[in-house]
Amino acid sequence: MINIPKGTKDVLPQDAYKWHFIEDAARQTAAEFNLKEIRTPVFEHTELFLRGVGDTTDIVNKEMYTFKDKGDRSITLKPEGTAGVARSFLENGMSSGVLPAKMYYIIPAFRYERPQAGRLREFHQFGIEVYGSDKPDADAEVIFAASSFLNKLGVKNVKLNINSIGCKKCRADYNAALKGYLAPHIGEMCATCRERYEKNPLRILDCKEEECKKITAGAPRMTDYLCSDCAQHFNEVQSNLAAGGLEYEVDPNIVRGLDYYTRTVFEFVSQEIGAQGTVCGGGRYDGLIEELGGSHTPAVGFAAGIERLILLMENTGVPFPEESKPEVYFAGMDEESRKKAFALAMAARAQGIAAETDHMGRSVKAQFKYADKIGAKYVAAIGGNELAEGAVNVKRMADGFVQNVRFEDINGYIVQNRS
Ligand code: HAM
Repeated sequence: MINIPKGTKDVLPQDAYKWHFIEDAARQTAAEFNLKEIRTPVFEHTELFLRGVGDTTDIVNKEMYTFKDKGDRSITLKPEGTAGVARSFLENGMSSGVLPAKMYYIIPAFRYERPQAGRLREFHQFGIEVYGSDKPDADAEVIFAASSFLNKLGVKNVKLNINSIGCKKCRADYNAALKGYLAPHIGEMCATCRERYEKNPLRILDCKEEECKKITAGAPRMTDYLCSDCAQHFNEVQSNLAAGGLEYEVDPNIVRGLDYYTRTVFEFVSQEIGAQGTVCGGGRYDGLIEELGGSHTPAVGFAAGIERLILLMENTGVPFPEESKPEVYFAGMDEESRKKAFALAMAARAQGIAAETDHMGRSVKAQFKYADKIGAKYVAAIGGNELAEGAVNVKRMADGFVQNVRFEDINGYIVQNRS
């Protein structure tokens, strides 16, 4: 038997409705915030992620699914959605179109990580990206969109943490201060952080190793080093959040795992799903388009992990709306009445009614049992008498109520009695 690759999951038919619920909430949020869908390829040239996500990140250094195609090109399965959208924004000249360009996506993403609860090698994201505005209102709107999406799912106790990691200018000052503070502790840090010290010291703040956490607890804070523009921007983001009644906390240790961020970064975090508690992360990335060869274009966005949201809803008992069930089941007894049952099911479907009939050659009794199992609301059992009369008893399965309905009136009857 061939098994599923490690770190991937099937979505089985009995669970697909959970995904539909989350995807519907995502699309509903997108509509409310005037975000249009963008679809980019599942794979891109590796170079895009080296430049976009950044070559000091774990994603690029350790986690990418990279391979040579038959034309000897280096190709990578996308580890996240932002870089591909940025490439498309540039390639399709969106900067000369209507701005802000507001987009969303629902995508699979691939990272070769050590699988654990909430951490997969293939996972799915609902993400949004807004291009063209450097205003703090845009940051706030993106955060409100994430919050509105989470509210639609009904998840509770998800905390919003925000931070500002400044711009190129003030981050250089901060990095120098951070390195100065960390220098006497290099020997006590984990091997990864020792490397980070040279390449990207900010990432050390995000380390989950106890020793490193102890060291960084007393580290200087980025927010104390923001230049006046970045400080003002961050203040305005916060007043926008407060004005909209959104609770948040400033967490100076949020730095995010991707290199493109500038200024605002944020995460929605839950304590209910174990170590991988970040259900949504995002921020501003004003330098990415330039990094990819375009002209300066400010941007801000987020992505939420769908598997983590499902885990959170399951772990905390947040109900998923019921899966849709067949509205009517047509049972047939013999060859002729089975044909009629089939025809009635087809006629019902043509009217947009979810209908089912037998394909297993079951007895009428077994068909009733099956109809009950799949949750059919009504059952109409057709035999010789019904064929002769052109009418059938339609049974409401919930309470056994029976109504005799002419064949040609069945669809109307079902529709009229929809609840
Ligand atoms: P990210 O924080 O790397 O950001 O991922 C966003 C979300 O994807 C995470 O908060 C988490 O819920 C989910 N996620 C990440 N890795 C995994 C995994 N291995 N298994 C399951 N879920 C995972 C980004 O990807 C940025 N592109 C977000 C963004 C958009 N920033 C600006 N625009």
